[in-house]
Amino acid sequence: MCGIVAYVGPKDAAPILLEGLQRLEYRGYDSAGLAVVNAKSLKTRKVKGRVADLAAAVPAKFKGTIGIGHTRWATHGAPSDVNAHPHIDQEQRIAVVHNGIIENADELRRRLEGEGVKFESETDSEVLSQLIGRMVKETESLREAVLRALKSVVGTYGIAVIDEQRPGEIVVARNGSPIVLGLGEKEMFAASDVAALIRYTRQVVHLEDGELAVIKADGFNTFTSDARETAKEPFTVDWDAGHYDNGGYEHYLLKEISEQPDTVARTLRGRIDDRFHIAHLGGLNMDARETRSFRRVKIIGCGSAYYSGQMGAQLIEELARIPADAEPASEFRYRSPVVEPDTLYVAISQSGETYDTLAAVQELKRKGGRVLGIVNTVGSAIARETDGGIYLHAGPEVSVASTKAFISTAVAFALLALHLGRVRDLSPADGRRICEGLRRLPEQIKEILTLEDRIKELAKKYADAPGMMFVGRVRGYPVAREGAQKLKEISYVHAEAYPASELKHGPLALISPELPTVAIVPDDELLDKNLTTLGEIRARHGRILMVGHRTSEAADDCIVVPKNQVELDPILLTIPLQLFAYHAAVALDRDVDRPRNLAKSVTVE
Ligand code: AGP
Repeated sequence: MCGIVAYVGPKDAAPILLEGLQRLEYRGYDSAGLAVVNAKSLKTRKVKGRVADLAAAVPAKFKGTIGIGHTRWATHGAPSDVNAHPHIDQEQRIAVVHNGIIENADELRRRLEGEGVKFESETDSEVLSQLIGRMVKETESLREAVLRALKSVVGTYGIAVIDEQRPGEIVVARNGSPIVLGLGEKEMFAASDVAALIRYTRQVVHLEDGELAVIKADGFNTFTSDARETAKEPFTVDWDAGHYDNGGYEHYLLKEISEQPDTVARTLRGRIDDRFHIAHLGGLNMDARETRSFRRVKIIGCGSAYYSGQMGAQLIEELARIPADAEPASEFRYRSPVVEPDTLYVAISQSGETYDTLAAVQELKRKGGRVLGIVNTVGSAIARETDGGIYLHAGPEVSVASTKAFISTAVAFALLALHLGRVRDLSPADGRRICEGLRRLPEQIKEILTLEDRIKELAKKYADAPGMMFVGRVRGYPVAREGAQKLKEISYVHAEAYPASELKHGPLALISPELPTVAIVPDDELLDKNLTTLGEIRARHGRILMVGHRTSEAADDCIVVPKNQVELDPILLTIPLQLFAYHAAVALDRDVDRPRNLAKSVTVE
């Protein structure tokens, strides 16, 4: 999605903005631009393409100690130089970068055109620069002009605005699209994502929805859209620039897959109590009595977060015996859900900024629901909106395809299920069994990673298939869904996941030598049923790649992973599918970390 970076201070702004934009490239974008002010003169450069193209287009004389930059992911108007941000007002005085969607842009554009304003681009965002440009002439205060302009705007925005007549200040505002301020030594930064700031500062302040800030080299002040001052305490981000490097790996995705023994250990750290065989989850902010009071658990998230929620629902039902289910947050928020007082709601998000998930959380809160967050990004919007939760501590995830955050979320659900189970009926013996299983995960993940060469061979063998079927039963079904999701998003090979039990109710018609199946076959009480399904596929001449705990003659190829407790096995069974998707994508020469049409954080509806 779009990215914003802004700088004011004593240094040359352009290199800092370009570096910040590079750090935001992982979010997905199609064009990029910069604006700086020097001696009360506004300069801009915008290009369709990569940040490297923008850097090449910026002349040596592009100087200024205040500036804003943007990476655009097209929504209104195709990717082009003109549609790229910053947008400038008619008088060429104001420059604006905008993330989000202005819903009444057409109406505002018509009104402004009626007043003689000439628009350059097809974007919704340009109404902001034109509106602010008109207001600033009346008020001669950038802060006042932005406040007034935003009063007529309906929609979501994170914006940064500069005025060539006021080269010492930047006004930023947030409503539905993140804005974070970065505090430096006699310099200030703002961005849509901490990643853009981390090289310069780890002291940050998150704006709330409906909040604005004026930032200057010597500090900042924040206020609400009705001009009331607000007090904000900076906090220190515990990630540093090194977390955003690819660590010598060819792709971030492979780095993030390989990190999983450590990231899982971090998710577990300090949270397992071997004395009572319970999980310590202080962030839930719930005592034992309240924890016992829930009769249902409803989990929401989008994409892979939703699939990890399906895994979580299964864990909670099995270990805590509480009815639990997962639903895409993007659907949940639109169907006017019935919110019940004895339901515990759990929102999942790696970024903590996914708009659909955030909107679903806000809807739940409006209706009085108790919402926990399982979130990776500390201080993100979903983390702040929820009543408590579990941080993953998986470190920044840069590749668009989620891997380590998915696995850490499943691990966090195992901890939550253990916690809910042990205040109910899960016996100490079963608690111990799960604690031991959780402790073994990092070593077992390491073992699976040693299978990479074999998985690479298999990925090459299957990569030229026009499509693939992924099947799994009960615990194996979310594994199949996530495996299919990984393959389709990074290799563009069509992949469909089905419950193995449903195959003969329709999709069996598709089975042929051209459509291979990845079958998730754990050694659990459903093993025989799964092997029968393999027989059915085989009888239709379907090729089978089996992922499980043993080999089988019913399959053409097998990947055997170490066994843990049956409830935790889905976590381990997912890892080979990540490597499979990665190597299939590499074999097909795809842009692994930045797959087409996708963005890392989906901050629009
Ligand atoms: C995962 O591989 C996807 N890129 C995507 O489905 C992602 O999980 C989803 O957009 C949710 O993101 P979040 O966890 O940051 O909320």
